[in-house]
Amino acid sequence: MDLKAYIRALPKAELHLHLEGTLEPEPMMRMAARNEVEIPFRSVEEIRAAYRFTRLQDFLDIYYRGMDVLRMEEDFQELTRAYLERAAADGAVHVEVFFDPQGHTGRGIPFAVAADGILAALTHGRERLGITSLLIMCVLRHLDEEQGFAAFREAEPYIADGRIAGLGLDSTERDNPPAKFEHLFAAAREAGLRLVAHAGEEGPASYVAEAVDRLGVDRIDHGNRAMEDPALVRRLAGLGIPLTVCPLSNLRLGGVADLRQHPLKRMLEAGLKATVNSDDPAYFGGYLVDNFVAVAEALDLGPADLATLARNSIEASFLDEPAKKAHLERLDRIAATEGNPA
Ligand code: ADE
Ligand code: ZN
Repeated sequence: MDLKAYIRALPKAELHLHLEGTLEPEPMMRMAARNEVEIPFRSVEEIRAAYRFTRLQDFLDIYYRGMDVLRMEEDFQELTRAYLERAAADGAVHVEVFFDPQGHTGRGIPFAVAADGILAALTHGRERLGITSLLIMCVLRHLDEEQGFAAFREAEPYIADGRIAGLGLDSTERDNPPAKFEHLFAAAREAGLRLVAHAGEEGPASYVAEAVDRLGVDRIDHGNRAMEDPALVRRLAGLGIPLTVCPLSNLRLGGVADLRQHPLKRMLEAGLKATVNSDDPAYFGGYLVDNFVAVAEALDLGPADLATLARNSIEASFLDEPAKKAHLERLDRIAATEGNPA
């Protein structure tokens, strides 16, 4: 079994994935035409050519522009269904996906249009593809906390019955520290949501510590710059706080100049529960297995490292213990029998 087939065969959970970041150029063009939305591109080639970023904000400007074609419930459903099909083909058994409600309500699309379209596709994924899922709403950190609270209030019926399972924090990290959202995260915890936050992607290591200490997050999204603070790394390892790492995203947004300098292997060596994820695959050039293959080749990761990364993803998920146990037992069997890629 070659490297790619082995990675695909390992049961994996994807834990850092923005649904709006799975919008491929072809559906973007199709949705723009059918919804009569003006986009600044005339062809798929022009769209792809525009995906050259040197930092997070370059990407975010295009990402918010791109999501403007999502207007109807069926657009969100189509988007999510296409992602789930790719995730299932990559051997993902469970996904915990983000959406940005304020990116939609802020342009006049009702919360329910986005949420219901996504949820219909997640149900389809469970019933037809055998892929379990949880939905995490993210608040945009470049907006203020009161606007985050407004999104949270709109989500209340979905939170009450578990259709929305978590709260995340994303968008422009620089100058928007986690503590800006401390009250919102406290309210979300009170409501029973699981908590995650992007931290240490572009922002300093201190934002990672702040997300843990002030927001009480269950996981850190990215976390790369935590590696600049050895005492923090030891704390994260001791607390068992997982990092949802996104190698191709880090490469495309200039977090690393070359994947050979990527911190993933050092994270594992430091005892951090690091996982591999695709972030915004339509923009960064690869889905889950592409991220695994790229980083495995660049960092010379062997079958045991790859099995550890897959295992970490199951353990770091918000699945219940029996589901984790079942996936981990299968994973161990596959790693034992197939863990000798050519
Ligand atoms: N929104 C979508 N992708 C993001 C990322 N990688 N960082 C911050 N916000 C995002
Ligand atoms: Zn992200």
